[in-house]
Amino acid sequence: MQQNKKCLVTGAAGFIGSHLARRLLREGCPVIGIDSFTDYYDRAIKEKNINDLKHNPLFRLITGDIVDIENMGAECEGVQWIFHQAAQAGVRASWGDEFTHYIHHNVLGTQRLLEWARRSKPERFIYASSSSVYGDTGKLPMHEDDLPAPHSPYGVTKLAAEHLCNLYHRNFNLPTVSLRYFTVYGPGQRPDMAFHRFIRAINDNEELTIYGTGEQTRDFTFVDDIVAANLAAAQAEKAEGRVYNIGGGSRISVNGVLNILRGLAGQDIKVRYEPVQAGDPPHTYADTSRAARELGFSPQSSLEDGLGIMFNSFK
Ligand code: NAD
Ligand code: UGA
Repeated sequence: MQQNKKCLVTGAAGFIGSHLARRLLREGCPVIGIDSFTDYYDRAIKEKNINDLKHNPLFRLITGDIVDIENMGAECEGVQWIFHQAAQAGVRASWGDEFTHYIHHNVLGTQRLLEWARRSKPERFIYASSSSVYGDTGKLPMHEDDLPAPHSPYGVTKLAAEHLCNLYHRNFNLPTVSLRYFTVYGPGQRPDMAFHRFIRAINDNEELTIYGTGEQTRDFTFVDDIVAANLAAAQAEKAEGRVYNIGGGSRISVNGVLNILRGLAGQDIKVRYEPVQAGDPPHTYADTSRAARELGFSPQSSLEDGLGIMFNSFK
């Protein structure tokens, strides 16, 4: 690990951004975090995510919208690694009027950040892309060279921003890397996501909801593996201008997840089935051979271990 790199983490108070910032600080890197504390979920959760970081003298938080990065640029002068995590996340919520937020944060926000970055000339610009760019593909596992065909408006904006990264690389030599994360879980997971909702319902002895039959599958990825992939992407020689799948190697159905949770909870779980949600792809499954070859990435956490850590973090 190259120490003392000055880092910028956008979305630093979010689920993944806060884990990443914590790890960078542990490695001795000064970190500037930017977060606008969008109201997609409770601000108190985000404040809690970064509570410990705020006391670290190497950490500086800027509260603001990346769309206005030009006005914060002076403080961010000289950053060497940019980790762009800020976005309006959430697949199923991206329909209707909500799309305005997705365009603002994901597309315009990324474009403004790229414009600023091309002048500030970082050594790496790493973008948090998403498995949602693939959509309802008939082909598994998903490979980076497959034609993307998002299944949700959210996926469209994540793909648009990925294309923006690629073209700033091609036109201006900005050293961008896109990491397509596959459904990420771990302590601090967003409250709209499946594992968070399931564990909270179990703890409250309430019914949890499964959309569809529960036979849909995801290549669930533990957050520490996502963080490790970011660090690898910042340092790997071949990574510039490249796109990588980052999956956990733990592809399983939602019903399969419930079986593991039953074991962890030591009790039966009350389940209600509801219709499939628009925008939800039936399956995701990452071919991670490129990330293995070029980033030296291999997921370290099994689903059983990672889910156990997340389950205990709720207590
Ligand atoms: P999150 O909502 O917990 O974190 C995002 C953070 O960005 C939030 O704290 C939010 O306030 C902030 N933010 C949003 N728009 C902003 C803006 N314009 N300016 C400044 N801050 C802004 O989400 P997360 O689950 O941690 O996701 C992080 C990134 O990873 C996102 O880009 C998301 O699309 C991507 N991703 C997540 C997953 C997953 O499973 N969680 C999977 C694939 C990709
Ligand atoms: C997740 C993130 O939320 C997205 O931001 C991200 O871009 C995407 O991963 C990705 O991989 O790119 P999703 O796979 O929908 O999206 O993650 P979960 O919310 O954990 O849902 C997983 C599965 O559980 C889905 O099939 C969903 O329909 C299902 N689910 C979710 C339920 O059955 N019940 C719930 O209460 C919540």
